[in-house]
Amino acid sequence: MLVAGDAFELTGRLGANPVEEIQDRFGIWALRFIMITLAVTPLRRLVGWNWLARFRRMFGLFTFFYALMHFLTWLILDQGLLVSAILEDIIERPFITIGFVALLLLIALAATSTNGMRRRLGRRWQTLHNAAYLIALLGVWHYWWQVKKDVTEPLNYAVILAVLLSARLWWRWSRTKRAKTSHH
Ligand code: HEM
Repeated sequence: MLVAGDAFELTGRLGANPVEEIQDRFGIWALRFIMITLAVTPLRRLVGWNWLARFRRMFGLFTFFYALMHFLTWLILDQGLLVSAILEDIIERPFITIGFVALLLLIALAATSTNGMRRRLGRRWQTLHNAAYLIALLGVWHYWWQVKKDVTEPLNYAVILAVLLSARLWWRWSRTKRAKTSHH
């Protein structure tokens, strides 16, 4: 798979700090996949790529998988599973707190991603899964916060997210407007 191949290209391309590099690559792919997942509905509406619908759950689960690997790299290789260090980091470094909240939300979405759970939750399922936007926001924020000088990279993701969110809000707004005018 292209992504695993990228993350595990171990031959001299990981630089002086390989743990950080592996962790960063997993983090970046988590962020890319949440954007891809959120782009599915706009692409269906704008370009008519309805076949994308079949892959949306898989994209979402990829996001979860890469975030989990990113988290585990940090937990095991960076923090060495030291509970006190882990708790201290989560509590005292705001960008880690944000990442942690995003991961908890991703766990909730992954756990309710089955057809059975979707049926069981009914209308609440959609409300819960709107948290995907919150996760993307937290992910960009988490990235932004730890970049020292050049914010170009996180800014790219912030712009993509802003476009995806505005498209969604625009559709919602025009739908309510249409619903109102058709009542008259
Ligand atoms: C408990 C959850 C998380 C923890 C503890 C965590 C921790 C970290 C740490 C320590 C770094 C900095 C690594 C370095 O020094 O270069 C980092 C970077 C990053 N994280 Fe997380 N993270 C978490 C969740 C997430 C999630 C959910 C996402 C995305 C949806 C994410 C995306 C990123 C990105 C994009 C970077 C920057 C990579 C780069 O510099 O190229 N993280 N994270």
